[in-house]
Amino acid sequence: MAQQSDLFKNLVAHCKEYGFIFQSSEVYDGLSAVYDYGPYGVELKNNIKDYWWRSMVQLHENIVGIDAAIFMHPKTWKASGHVDAFNDPLIDNKDSKKRYRADTLIEEQMDKIEGKIEKEIEKARKRFGENFDEAMFRTTNQRVVEYTEQFNTIRNRLATAMTNGDLPELKQIIEDLEIADPESGSRNWTEVRQFNLMFSTQLGNIAGEEGKLYLRPETAQGIFVNFLNVQKTTRQKIPFGIAQIGKAFRNEIVARQFIFRMREFEQMEMQFFIRPGEQKKWYEYWKQARMKWHLALGTSDTKLRFHDHDNLAHYADAAVDIQFDFPFGFKELEGIHSRTDFDLGNHQELSGKKIQYFDPELQESYVPFVVETSIGVDRMFLAMMSNALVEEEVPGGEGARAVLKLHPALAPVKCAILPLKRNEERIVNMAQGIFNNLKLSFNVQYDDTGSIGKLYRRQDAIGTPFCVTVDFESLDDQTVTLRDRDTLQQVRVHVDQLEGIIRERVDMKQLLG
Ligand code: GAP
Repeated sequence: MAQQSDLFKNLVAHCKEYGFIFQSSEVYDGLSAVYDYGPYGVELKNNIKDYWWRSMVQLHENIVGIDAAIFMHPKTWKASGHVDAFNDPLIDNKDSKKRYRADTLIEEQMDKIEGKIEKEIEKARKRFGENFDEAMFRTTNQRVVEYTEQFNTIRNRLATAMTNGDLPELKQIIEDLEIADPESGSRNWTEVRQFNLMFSTQLGNIAGEEGKLYLRPETAQGIFVNFLNVQKTTRQKIPFGIAQIGKAFRNEIVARQFIFRMREFEQMEMQFFIRPGEQKKWYEYWKQARMKWHLALGTSDTKLRFHDHDNLAHYADAAVDIQFDFPFGFKELEGIHSRTDFDLGNHQELSGKKIQYFDPELQESYVPFVVETSIGVDRMFLAMMSNALVEEEVPGGEGARAVLKLHPALAPVKCAILPLKRNEERIVNMAQGIFNNLKLSFNVQYDDTGSIGKLYRRQDAIGTPFCVTVDFESLDDQTVTLRDRDTLQQVRVHVDQLEGIIRERVDMKQLLG
């Protein structure tokens, strides 16, 4: 656990030191759970969004994009269920005055039990070596069996309480497990209350409740209310999808873990409209398609897993998370939800306008069902950063380096051009010529501000897949040294070959194919 938290601290420090992420309004001591993306952060974020957009919209003839407004008519959030049901169970500690999510306190207790099980398994694995049978051990080891039973009992109680909105039962679980305030150790808790997560603001020209507006807590509703506009103008036939990338806002009670849980964040959502009754087929399809999207980035399959929801959101009849192994454990990265006709049906009812599709094959009209894929850009960013950051020794006694082994297509800068002598005019001219040529195709950097070793270290730390050095030999034969970030191999190549070599590795095509 100590090692994991060190890893996480390093990651947060690295993001700041190298211009990926800054705390919002840091000069005023920051605003909790709100972050700004710096020069390298915005590049990585844009590349993640580009990969998602291309794989959804560009590769699917039956998926189109929109960009809806953040503000929507307040009735939208009544119809979607967010006004009544988008709540988290909140509990205050009377002594420390700290506020927590009751379900999170219980989940953290479950994580501790899971940690104990893993510890037993690791100990046994070391003891039995190659002959270790984990499945057998899990069912026969007395201690592990007891921990597992404990875990399952808590999980079932929590799931039932959350599904039924049973707040006294949540308080009871906290008392039964003797959960103390993580900060103060006090067990002096208030009752559990519901807390609505939507931020609200006021329209300029209407006073009171009537003018109350919400900042959207999900981008999906902008898609639902535009269903007919898009379907009619693009003449799409069901099944088809609408994709959107945009900001969402949630007044999160627990706002820790850096950009994992933010109050202002970005989502990439796709609503896939289908015939009623076909939701199982499409749910399975999108589960597999989305997992493939993650694996194409080279992320190990041991770091990704499916996790079925124990308690469903108010709009879903089936839901699964794709979880990623973050430095603080496996947590939700993306959700795939079968939303039935919940949203379109409710918008139809509340607006009094028909929101239906005439199916030419079936010769009938119906409210389409929806399977949704929803991923947070910021969580994907955190997953990619934590997956990529490696501290390693450089062979040849050059010391240690921190290197971001991002997929080259996601890397903020694709190539750095480094003149070996900054005072030698001919070398500088040639290096600048290469830079001016490559910048037409890629995001490249020119840097002559330090020794070559230092410049390499800096490019490693921001994940640049290639460095080009220009030296005296370059002047004679038009060759340069091309250094590979991951293998550290250096090869001489002709300047005319550079663009092709770089393109082959950084082109998003390889991810989409
Ligand atoms: N439209 C469905 C929906 O919004 P969700 O599971 O609440 O579903 C989808 O959110 C994704 O949005 C999550 O898997 C996560 O990646 C991201 N997300 C949700 N809340 C977030 C937050 N507070 N900070 C950062 N990302 C968040």
